[in-house]
Order: sequence, then C-alpha cells, then structure tokens
Amino acid sequence: MRKITIAANWKMYLDERGSIDFIDKLNADKDLFSNKNIILFPSHACIRSVKDHLDVNVKIGMQDCDIHNKGAYTGSTSINSIDIDSCIVGHSERRIVYKESNDVISEKLRAVLSSDVDPILCIGETLEEKNENLTENVIDSQLSILTNDLKARNLTIAYEPVWAIGSGNVPSNEYINEMLSYIKNRLKSLYSGTDLDNIKLFYGGSVDVSNVDELLNVELIDGFLIGSASANFEKFKDIVKQLKL
Ligand code: 13P
Repeated sequence: MRKITIAANWKMYLDERGSIDFIDKLNADKDLFSNKNIILFPSHACIRSVKDHLDVNVKIGMQDCDIHNKGAYTGSTSINSIDIDSCIVGHSERRIVYKESNDVISEKLRAVLSSDVDPILCIGETLEEKNENLTENVIDSQLSILTNDLKARNLTIAYEPVWAIGSGNVPSNEYINEMLSYIKNRLKSLYSGTDLDNIKLFYGGSVDVSNVDELLNVELIDGFLIGSASANFEKFKDIVKQLKL
C-alpha cells in the first residue's frame, strides 16, 4: 500500500509565534504524526525556530529559493542557507505574483539540485488556459525545464491547477487522474524505468478534511501539497488522521 505524503505549504500564513505554537501542538500529539510522511514548509524566517522546537520526525522544506547559492543578492534566500530536506520551485504564486518565468524556475531547480535537497516542482493551468483547452500545452511547457542536466534524483511533481488553489473548487477525481496520467506519460518519455520510480506525483488545490478521503481514491496521487488547511493545526490534524498509513 502506498504511503501518502502530506506537504504543508504554510505560505505566509504563520509568523514565528504561530509556527512555534503549531509545532508545540504537533509535539503534544507525537504518536499521530511520527510515523507519517510529513514535510512542513514554514516561511524562511521561521525555519530555524521550527527546527529547534520540533520533537517529531517530520521533514522541513523551503517554499522557494534564489537562483544563486551565495553573494550580493539583497533580500533573497539561498538553498544553502539552512539544512532542509525539500524545496518547492515554480509554485503558481511565484509564477503569477512574482512573474517567474520557466527560465527562472529552471535556474531555481538547478540551484536545488546543486545541494542535497529534494525538489518539488509545481505545475498547473489557470482557469483561462483550461477554458481555452491549453492545459496539456501548459503542462508540456512547465515540464520542459526537465532537461537532461536537470534530472532530479527524488523529484516530486505537484499538479496544482491554479483555479483550484484557495478557491474551494476541487477538480473531480476523474480530472485529476487524467492530468496525472498525462504528466506521468510525459515523464516516461524523459526518464527511464528505475528513475521514474523515484518520481512522485502530488495534487494540490483546496485540499481539506472534507475532500481528502475522496481524493485518496485517485491511485496516482502519492501526496498532497496543502496550503491554508495545513496552517491550521486542527484542520491539519484532521487531514492526517484520514491517512490509512
Ligand atoms: P490551498 O490548499 O490553500 O488551496 O493552497 C494550495 C497550494 O497552493 C499549495 O501549494
């Protein structure tokens, strides 16, 4: 039976106090969380405090990183700035709000791969793109950065349709299955058999306790990248409780 990963993208929801409070509650419920695959993505500024307070075996990641590893880049954060397990690149909020192009995301992926950190590459179409039947073109274009020199060891592709993020509009299981199958087929043309086994597929977009059980029926889903519901401890706990393993 597959072991689902819950990746909690806290975005900019929790400040340092809020992050520590969350971790204190997590520690108090150790038995529930310790044998699960969980990755927490706090704000950069809160990673140190989260790591210092954690008393449960969960992974920690960065929500984004700079394309450079070191140097005169005011206000930016290097993938090497702190010891972490995973890093998100290409989140739609970075693509749309911060105008990050595929080229920039490709450089970020390169930076992550130059360290010992596992990347999560986010992809997904906007509502306009979906309505214009461009979803597969968007997926092709966003996956096109996986060139030979950027083939990650433990790569995760998080399919997050932009129209599902923060909207409460969760696609049907059929739709998610169709998109993940398409992504998997594209990856098959890029990766050989054994490398393909190391690639995980996540779904993200309005995942919460009311829909996670139903979404678990999509067999291609290896994990969920969760935003707002993951930054609320009680909601997060209820989601984790739904996991069979
Ligand atoms: P929500 O779960 O808030 O819709 O956010 C999803 C997301 O963007 C995770 O990266």
